Amino acid sequence: MSRIAYVNGQYVPHSQAAVHIEDRGYQFSDGVYEVFAVNHGRLVGEQGHLDRLGHSLKELRIAWPMDRRAMMVVVHEVQRRNHVRDGLIYLQVTRGVAPRDHPFPEDAESALVVTARKTPPLDKAALTKGVEVITIPDIRWQRCDIKSIALLPNVLGKQQARDAGAFEAWQVDADGMITEGTSTNAWIVTQDGELITRDTSRAILNGITRLAVLEAATEAGLSFTERAFSADEAEAAREAFITSSTSHVKAVTRINGKSLGNGHVGELTSRLLDLYMDFVDTRGGPEKTDTWN
Ligand code: PDD
Repeated sequence: MSRIAYVNGQYVPHSQAAVHIEDRGYQFSDGVYEVFAVNHGRLVGEQGHLDRLGHSLKELRIAWPMDRRAMMVVVHEVQRRNHVRDGLIYLQVTRGVAPRDHPFPEDAESALVVTARKTPPLDKAALTKGVEVITIPDIRWQRCDIKSIALLPNVLGKQQARDAGAFEAWQVDADGMITEGTSTNAWIVTQDGELITRDTSRAILNGITRLAVLEAATEAGLSFTERAFSADEAEAAREAFITSSTSHVKAVTRINGKSLGNGHVGELTSRLLDLYMDFVDTRGGPEKTDTWN
C-alpha cells in the first residue's frame, strides 16, 4: 500500500510529495514541527501537541496555516489514509515560500506538511532492554522550548552517540548540568530513590511524553523532583531513562560506558513504563496542556 502525505492543501502519494525550493523551511530552517505518537489508533497527547505547536508558532511569529480544528482534521485524515493504528504522525509548518531574503516576507503563506508512518505497538520488552547514553556539550541556541526544525546540533549529537555505539546523547550546559537528549527528555533515579527530570525553561523542550509520565506518576502517588541534575549525578544514578513520542519510556542502563545499578532496567523505570502504557491507553495523554502559554 502506498503512503499518502498532505502538502499544502493536497493529499499526494508520499513518493511524489514535494515543496518549493524557496520554502523558507528549506532555506532557513524557518519553521516548526510536532511528532505525534499513535497508540492503538489514538493520537497521544493531541491537545498538548497543538498547544506546544501554538507556542512555537507564536514565539517565531509564524501564522497558523489553518485553524486548530481544521489542522486536526488533516492530521486524522493522514492517519486514516495511511491506516496507522500504531505509529507516528509528523507535522511541519514553515513560514512559506518567498524569494530568499532574511526578513519575514510580507505575503508568504505558512506551509503545512503532514506525513504518517506505522511502527510496532508499544513493546515493554523492547523498551526495557536498556540503551546507552553519552554526554556531550549542549551547543544549541537559547530557545530550546521552541520545537524548531533547525536541528543541526541535535543531528550531530545523535550521530556522535551512534558513532560511540550509544543510542542517545545527553547534552550538558555550561554549568555542567544535563539539559536533555538530542530528541528525548532525560530522567534519573538517584541512589536514594529520587525521581528527577529537568524543570522546564527555555533550556529544554517540554515533552508531551514527559508531561504524561509526570501525570501518571502523580496519580500513582509517586514523588518526583523537577530540577537540573549534573552529568556526575547521572553517572552515579541507580536508574535512568529517556522519554519522547518515538522512544516512549526507554530504559537507560549505561552512561558514558559505565553500567548503572546492576546494569539492568531499574524497578522504578519499569513501573513508570507500565504506568505510562496504562495512562495512554486510558487517558490518551496529559491533561495539563497549557504550560506553554
Ligand atoms: N523529539 N527534547 C527534544 C529536543 C526533542 O526533540 C523531543 C522530541 C523531546 C520529547 O518530546 P515529546 O515527548 O513531546 O516527543 C524532548 C521528536 C520525537 C523528534 O524530533 O523526532
